[in-house]
Amino acid sequence: MRTQVGIVGAGPAGLMLSHLLHLRGIESVVLESRSRDHVEHRVRAGVLEQGSVDLLCRAGLGERLLREGLRHEGIELRFAGESHRVPMTELTGRAITVYGQQEVVKDLIAARLAAGGRILFEADAVRLAGLDSDSPVVHFRRDGREEELRCDFVAGCDGFHGVSRRAAPEGALTTYERTYPFAWLGVLAAAAPAVTELVYAHHDRGFALYSMRSPEISRLYLQVAPDEDVAAWPDERIWAELRTRLETVPGWSLTEGSILEKSVTPMRSFVVEPMRWKRLFLAGDAVHIVPPTGAKGMNLALADVALLADAFAGWYDRGRADLLAGYSATALRRVWRAQHFSWWMTSMLHRLDRDDPYETKVQTATLRYVATSRAYATSLAENYVGMPEV
Ligand code: FAD
Ligand code: DHB
Repeated sequence: MRTQVGIVGAGPAGLMLSHLLHLRGIESVVLESRSRDHVEHRVRAGVLEQGSVDLLCRAGLGERLLREGLRHEGIELRFAGESHRVPMTELTGRAITVYGQQEVVKDLIAARLAAGGRILFEADAVRLAGLDSDSPVVHFRRDGREEELRCDFVAGCDGFHGVSRRAAPEGALTTYERTYPFAWLGVLAAAAPAVTELVYAHHDRGFALYSMRSPEISRLYLQVAPDEDVAAWPDERIWAELRTRLETVPGWSLTEGSILEKSVTPMRSFVVEPMRWKRLFLAGDAVHIVPPTGAKGMNLALADVALLADAFAGWYDRGRADLLAGYSATALRRVWRAQHFSWWMTSMLHRLDRDDPYETKVQTATLRYVATSRAYATSLAENYVGMPEV
């Protein structure tokens, strides 16, 4: 099999890259180790920055997003028994849209298949070869057989656990990393959201987040131990803990319902530089991870591939090598802005070290500063809705 750009991974990064390349007349093949059903039902992120919505709309993918997505103009912070709204749109002129990652994935798969695009599901990339030649090869396994995809370039969009990043030789890439002593237990519940905007709650027992997917479905998160076993969280325990951490404002109560899905996500900050080695270009979670508190993961993945698609178009249409050469440095500016913001939101909102009362006092002072200073709230808001230029 041969194509121009071989793409490993059918998450938001790989699918969007394939779609953007198609719009520019560039061929690609996407290899995805899981089934179509699996990737379309994997519950993950849910917040799209204004820039991501604009990108999806410009690429012809806005129809269902604009109809079903929930546009939010603010978020709420709860701490010390108080509630404060950060009026994002008033402060920045921009907004976010709540639309599940799996819906973005479904829309992208439908668009690619309708245009005759090639996505090979249950095709597991096992090895990349010839990355320092003009004709790299992705070796993959499908139906128990090994096959080859020959291409001009490989786009490694295969997430944190993928093979692409590891194909660069030892010492060629530098890793910057931080792990956190907690994880998130995420649940999807058949319960009408009791809020109209997302609630980020700082509580002595740990962080909680109230989000949603639709007028009938809530998406909720609890800070838990890093090695937490989901089995230790029967539904009643989840609701009790959510009540404790979120029902801190007089007159407000949670709506409960049946829990449709639950999973534990570890928290990590991680960047590998540069985001390229020879003819391998890395994008999305394959090359950087943020803790989810800033809602940046999917947005960064989309921003990376928008740049990468432009760079490939420069190469194929005009013989320009400079955009591909500059891809990593340009993408990393946004990546590090999001790294800082995600680390900052995480540090401000989670229960850190129980034995360090100084740290707890500083957290409360930071939250109070966001709640009272227009300048500081604007800083949070412009990062949250996404900076057009970084
Ligand atoms: P992915 O979506 O991970 O896609 C990579 C794809 O590559 C996958 O489909 C995978 O199956 C495939 N793949 C892997 N290896 C191979 C191989 N060898 N061959 C072929 N295919 C391969 N962000 C938030 O903002 N909020 C959240 O609540 C949130 N929750 C998350 C929960 C989990 C469990 C995870 C893992 C991430 C979460 N994120 C969240 C982050 C966000 O979902 C990611 O940033 C986003 O998925 C990145 O998209 P991507 O396309 O780069 O990677
Ligand atoms: C959601 C996830 C996040 O990580 C976040 O910060 C806000 C919302 C969500 O899944 O809806």
